Amino acid sequence: MSTASSSLEAFLHTHQQRVSAALDHWLPQGTVLPQRLHEAMRYSVLDGGKRVRPVLTYAAGHALGVAAQQLDGPACALELIHAYSLVHDDLPAMDNDELRRGKPTCHIAFDEATAILTGDALQALAFYILAHDPNMVPDAPLRLKMIETLADASGSRGMAGGQAIDLAYTGHELNLVELENMHIHKTGALIRAAVKLGALSDPDVELDVLEKLDHYGKCIGLAFQIQDDILDVESDTQTLGKTQGADVARNKPTYPAIVGLKQAKDMAADLVDQSLQSLQDFNHRADPLRGIAQYIITRQY
Ligand code: IPE
Ligand code: IPE
Ligand code: MG
Ligand code: MG
Ligand code: MG
Repeated sequence: MSTASSSLEAFLHTHQQRVSAALDHWLPQGTVLPQRLHEAMRYSVLDGGKRVRPVLTYAAGHALGVAAQQLDGPACALELIHAYSLVHDDLPAMDNDELRRGKPTCHIAFDEATAILTGDALQALAFYILAHDPNMVPDAPLRLKMIETLADASGSRGMAGGQAIDLAYTGHELNLVELENMHIHKTGALIRAAVKLGALSDPDVELDVLEKLDHYGKCIGLAFQIQDDILDVESDTQTLGKTQGADVARNKPTYPAIVGLKQAKDMAADLVDQSLQSLQDFNHRADPLRGIAQYIITRQY
């Protein structure tokens, strides 16, 4: 293993553990009323997932010299919104999936109403943390900017809007521009916000630095969903922890379906190159961001 990949693995591992411990702290115990809802929230967030979004928040903050303690809150908020989006994405009214992170989906392990409420409550907890966490940057305008950024990335002009496009176009033909627009919204927006919240945790962040990091986030956000589409074709259920071939079975508009596997891979690699170019002026502290960009298109699950 090269030094670069082993140091990335160490960064990933440390920060996956770090955000999981912080999430464990924020999520109410399953013994607290209403117990079933709290159990379902913990079930859907803890023990699983690659934690890519929170790790990106830590990596963006790290690039600017922000202490990890100040990044725990935004990192948790990102993962909570993401976990909520997965619980709702798996519902019968949406993708109707029964396997997630190697376990039965929330509505299978609990029930549909609990899964809907779990998503609602995880979303609310994300914003509670951004408003309340005493360890985050104390600068009020920056905190408001983070809340605004995450709300915009999650709502109808971000993830929820992308999910609406996904559902409207399942079983329909999309051209490449429409497909890119769907992916930028349903997955790209939250990944972009993950990077931005890390950058906003530096009270002295300059606008041009913020813009470069934002461009990095935009490129890898789209690459991430292209790789997700590729893995649906090329991986297997055991490795993925979710049902392989589900997009094909449901006739979902995906990159492999519309441009073919080879071109999908080339496009994802090109986006990663673009993301790395926007980090050109950054020093070695941006190496975790560089490593994560490569990881996004080489990951097997
Ligand atoms: C899956 O996201 C859903 C998409 C937006 C593509 P991840 O691949 O990050 O899922 P986890 O968090 O690792 O389970
Ligand atoms: C999910 O896209 C995007 C969100 C959850 C917002 P997918 O439907 O492709 O995700 P998977 O493949 O079920 O994880
Ligand atoms: Mg979906
Ligand atoms: Mg899905
Ligand atoms: Mg998918």
